[in-house]
Amino acid sequence: MLGPVILAASRSDRMRRLISAAPVTKQVVDRFIPGETVDDIVPIIEDLTGKGLELTMDVVGEDITTPEQATAARDAYLRLVDRIKDLRLGPKVEMSVKLSMFGQALENGHELALANVRPVVEAAAAIGTTVTLDAEDHTTLDSMFAIHEELRKDFPQTGCVIQAYLFRTEADARRLAANGSRVRLVKGAYKEPAEVAYQNKHEIDKAYVRILRTLMEGDGYPMIGSHDPRIIGIAQELARKARRKLDEYEFQMLYGIRSDEHLRLAAEGHRMRVYTAYGTDWYGYFMRRLAEKPANLRFFVRSMVSK
Ligand code: FDA
Repeated sequence: MLGPVILAASRSDRMRRLISAAPVTKQVVDRFIPGETVDDIVPIIEDLTGKGLELTMDVVGEDITTPEQATAARDAYLRLVDRIKDLRLGPKVEMSVKLSMFGQALENGHELALANVRPVVEAAAAIGTTVTLDAEDHTTLDSMFAIHEELRKDFPQTGCVIQAYLFRTEADARRLAANGSRVRLVKGAYKEPAEVAYQNKHEIDKAYVRILRTLMEGDGYPMIGSHDPRIIGIAQELARKARRKLDEYEFQMLYGIRSDEHLRLAAEGHRMRVYTAYGTDWYGYFMRRLAEKPANLRFFVRSMVSK
């Protein structure tokens, strides 16, 4: 019951100001967002890749309100690519981007977001890696898929995310599986109305498995974005049935969540990519992590009252 309330708060400016200013917030935030600058994050990239993990890097931020902020977002990603170039990790470190941070909701937002994200995709390709477009709320997805298709004309490795809780996703998965795309499947992290999305966990989990089967049996590259042990077991089984080799799909989890499982899957020979977020505009990302697990919120509230 708490999840939807926290997700509503994640879009409130008043709550953003209150929570961001609380002195203890930072300690709890660090568990999920382990740095604010490229300098903070490079040692973490070196540490995790040294342990056999792969990464997808997210510079936190979303729902920007001016074209200048969109340009700043583009530049932040370009600085990251420039720094990781020297690490020579190639496809082991890719980027995840939210198009709302690149101007998608502004006037002429579709064109603006495409113009801002393209140089990041080009820079990533120049160092042998790629970019995945995150999925935000359902109103943004037609534009996201169109930008994905456009980018894939020059950079076929560009990936995108689909969300199992949306009714539309089974059709999206069929299209993406047939055209050979890299696709990350997640359950979905936004507050969506009953007209467009399943509201019940059991229904969402069942949809996840149906969609995953489509991806595994298709021509694309499935990326299983979940911490759910049941989903991970089913994914291994579906990959085996579809005769996929270990390098023909991958698991993805978020930094700070089930870290032992990251290492266990990597040690079993799976490609395991950790979604690692950093930056200062962490509020929306952090609130979605609280909404996913009530225990996170209890821990956060306890830290606030015990100070
Ligand atoms: P579920 O929520 O059922 O959790 C299964 C178990 O995982 C829990 O019982 C708990 O042990 C653990 N767990 C899950 N979340 C936790 C948390 N926050 N803190 C502590 N433990 C937790 N969503 C989206 O809408 N657009 C996107 O682009 C992305 N991108 C993305 C990338 C990657 C790599 C991942 C893993 C996830 C996303 N998501 C996302 C988020 C996704 O939609 C979903 O909200 C979370 O992954 C939680 O769902 P699970 O599949 O983990 O299952």
